[in-house]
Amino acid sequence: MHLADSANPNRTHHQPRAPKEAMSALPYQNPKNTIDERVADLLARLTVEEKAGQLTQYFYTGDGEPIPEDFDIESLPPEHRIHVELPALIESAIRAGRAGSLLFLRDPALSNKLQRYAVEESRLGIPLLFGFDVVHGWRTIFPVPIALAATWSEGTVEAVQTIAAREARAAGVHWTFAPMIDIARDPRWGRIIEGAGEDPVLGSVMAAAQVRGFQGELGSESLLAGPKHFLGYGAARGGRDYDDAEVSDHELWNVYLPPFRAAVEAGAATVMSAYMDLNGVPASASRTLLTTVLREQLGFDGFVVSDANAVRSLAVQHFAEDQTDAAVRALEAGLDMEMCMFEPAFDNLPDAVADGRIDESVLDDAVRRVLTAKFRLGLFENPYANESATASTLSSPASRTLARTAAEQSIVLLKNVDATLPLDPRTLPNVAVIGQLADSKREILGPWVFDHDTNETVTILEGLRDALGDARIGYEPGAGIPERVHPSMFDVMDTTVERTPDDYDDDAAIERAVELATASDVTIVVVGQRQNQIGEKSSTSTLDLPGRQFEQLQRLHATGTKLIVVVVSGRPLDLRWADEHVPAIVQAWYPGTRGGEALAAVLLGATSPAGRLPFTWPQHVGQVPLVYAHHRTFIPEEQDARYFEGSNAPLYPFGHGLSYTSFEYSDLRIDRPVIARGESTTVSVDVTNVGDRDADEVVQLYIHQRFGVSSRPVRELKDFARISLAAGQARRVEFTLTPQQLRYWSAATNGYVQDATTFDLGIGGDSLVALESSFTVTR
Ligand code: NOJ
Repeated sequence: MHLADSANPNRTHHQPRAPKEAMSALPYQNPKNTIDERVADLLARLTVEEKAGQLTQYFYTGDGEPIPEDFDIESLPPEHRIHVELPALIESAIRAGRAGSLLFLRDPALSNKLQRYAVEESRLGIPLLFGFDVVHGWRTIFPVPIALAATWSEGTVEAVQTIAAREARAAGVHWTFAPMIDIARDPRWGRIIEGAGEDPVLGSVMAAAQVRGFQGELGSESLLAGPKHFLGYGAARGGRDYDDAEVSDHELWNVYLPPFRAAVEAGAATVMSAYMDLNGVPASASRTLLTTVLREQLGFDGFVVSDANAVRSLAVQHFAEDQTDAAVRALEAGLDMEMCMFEPAFDNLPDAVADGRIDESVLDDAVRRVLTAKFRLGLFENPYANESATASTLSSPASRTLARTAAEQSIVLLKNVDATLPLDPRTLPNVAVIGQLADSKREILGPWVFDHDTNETVTILEGLRDALGDARIGYEPGAGIPERVHPSMFDVMDTTVERTPDDYDDDAAIERAVELATASDVTIVVVGQRQNQIGEKSSTSTLDLPGRQFEQLQRLHATGTKLIVVVVSGRPLDLRWADEHVPAIVQAWYPGTRGGEALAAVLLGATSPAGRLPFTWPQHVGQVPLVYAHHRTFIPEEQDARYFEGSNAPLYPFGHGLSYTSFEYSDLRIDRPVIARGESTTVSVDVTNVGDRDADEVVQLYIHQRFGVSSRPVRELKDFARISLAAGQARRVEFTLTPQQLRYWSAATNGYVQDATTFDLGIGGDSLVALESSFTVTR
């Protein structure tokens, strides 16, 4: 049964609608019953077609209006007709009780209209669940997730996603396909921007904080969270998005799994499966992943949605024989809901049940999970968005202030010699601002935004002008940033995308930039990648600055004017030359709606930067992948000389980030230097702000296991704390190391072990650590 059939009244299998009075007496409609009772009652009433419907999620890209009668659909190429016809087909499916969820709706009036079809016109009135990728904000756009991770502040990140949830919910969204918590160890992979980088502990903290932020207590301002993509998607071969992943068990369970464990423990209501083959089995049909690991080992009790078209793709990937096989194998593996464009594979489930290819009880289990989520969110009592409150929720000044705070906290000062930064606003007669990315509202928002308002976005140039006054700032866009060779599907949807015009004269533009820099006292050059050069389907084979930005950088440097480099990117770029020649480099990420204000505050010293890198910054693409938590292997003293022609040390280490003040670490103490397996020990240290300005510091705790059943990485982050210290202030920071943190999964035993061993311990403001000690675990 295909979607098209549901538009045909002769093919609908549903029974006549019961009169309203009788309906109100049904147990599933009575909020006094428990959720389990309501689900059981409703499930027993569903036809097998309705069950398949509850397990189906459609992309809805229509406007809710019928196709005009005079529209000549025949004039369209056949493959485009479906896009015009689809909305009406989906609407029929909703009325027939054959759709459980829709995604990509952003107008609450339209959501409500479609919801009425489900609630008032379908036989059992089961509300639709509206999903969307609410990744780093809805109307208020916060820094991109990799930047949020760079705050190393779970409080900020939770607060950000609380606001994102509130705004999206006010716009009619119930469920976000976020957080993306895939570990990313290859910056060629575009989706590195959506996660928390390379480290499982930082990744776990950020995963849990985001789940808490989105879901809260699952009330009227919450979104269901949807951590993704289970599992190993970030390990795409060669960093090429969607490519298969080969990950050893040891790396899978020790590195890729922990953020999902944290998200599940934080109560994530849903999880999204991944597209690719993991070790030869498509993740979206892996029973080991979706049932054994996710449900049985992690205790996940929500529902699993496929990535978009991932069930249909099981046949495309030459794993499933046909779409029925795809549906059956995905469902049997533990996948509950199919996200799809059209012709869901799950449409074949009723026939598969009739043919005995799958037991109806497998559908029942999945439907039970989906309905439970709808009841938990209170959708049966409150299916509609409150349209009268949407505008005020979306325009809250407090949300914009949080966007600025989060951006300020995320900015990483990569290099700063001779106290080049902060600039002193009192002694800055002429500032040259160079770069197309400096004068763009769209670019600094980053990818994965859909309801943003560019009018109120503060560009980098505007932020500086507001802070310094127009008269002191000159601007030149300079070098163009070339288009993608393979276009992004997002650019089709996004009417605000900015591009360098085809006839842009790079030579003249660079010349003008150089002239302006020559006549100025300071040059701030903003370099990086456009927002559509990172994200989904935006992998790259180079970390070079696109276009002629590097040549322009060298020319600007040659003017002799003091030069500051600001990087707008979601991945490390090749900054070797800049690091060698330029006195100050600032990583601004895609900082969001208030990004320009935040950057100005950092450059001009209103705030001291304390963002820290959530990944190791390689010198160039040839070093990739490069992680700080590598293993100590043969001839460790030559660790940084593994390439005959050059160094394999990073440009900037994991956890790196400078400050306008200095911190001293002293008096490192381990309360119990000898513990038995299963016991905990407490580590504490004094951190003093020895500079003359208030600032935040990110205190990082690392361990290294000296011997054991397996060998372990040279350094592993175990805990951290972002703290604020006034000038001169000291604070004792304390961490407890638990057996849970000291164990790991070993390929030698095929299970988790905690060794009796000696641990080196390091503590400091980055992964190079300031102080070291050790402790012992006995049998
Ligand atoms: C595909 C992406 O991989 C996934 O992360 C996203 O949630 C869906 N598309 C829906 O936009």
